[in-house]
Amino acid sequence: MKKVIIKSEFSLFKFEELDDVLKILVSKAIDATDNSYSPYSNFKVGAALQLEDGTIVIGANQENAAFSVTMCAERSAIFNAQSNHPDLAITTIAIAAKNVNGLVHIPISPCGSCRQVILEMEQKYKRNIKILLCGSEGIYVINSIKDLLPLSFVDESMR
Ligand code: THU
Repeated sequence: MKKVIIKSEFSLFKFEELDDVLKILVSKAIDATDNSYSPYSNFKVGAALQLEDGTIVIGANQENAAFSVTMCAERSAIFNAQSNHPDLAITTIAIAAKNVNGLVHIPISPCGSCRQVILEMEQKYKRNIKILLCGSEGIYVINSIKDLLPLSFVDESMR
């Protein structure tokens, strides 16, 4: 028997420490929470992603009375980007969330389905996607979804 340890890492930034491009992306993710349709959870999530040409695409969670139909902010943004700019790689995604008290203190992290979709985008464009998780305590900067999704299922797994 051999024990295997998988490490993952992120960096914690204060908003002021981010470079100007990342500051804009974080601000856009926070603004995107205003586009949330979340009458059931009252939890507003916004995502802002940047494409390789600098284009920013936003998304917000969209809920439904049939709860399982709900779409997360991250996938709203990614599917929007893929539908409009299928040839442009995603370089960065910022995610922000507000509960009834405002911006969450500890950042939220993407759900399992969104992690799988972000992984697919890394595989499609063969480059890492930087992930910024935004809370009032700070911004978690993660260099690749692989840090959030170890032992992942990818297309090579089927060959
Ligand atoms: N939600 C997101 O949009 N992204 C996440 O990463 C986690 C959860 C949404 C889905 C639902 O509308 C609400 O937050 C509560 O789960």
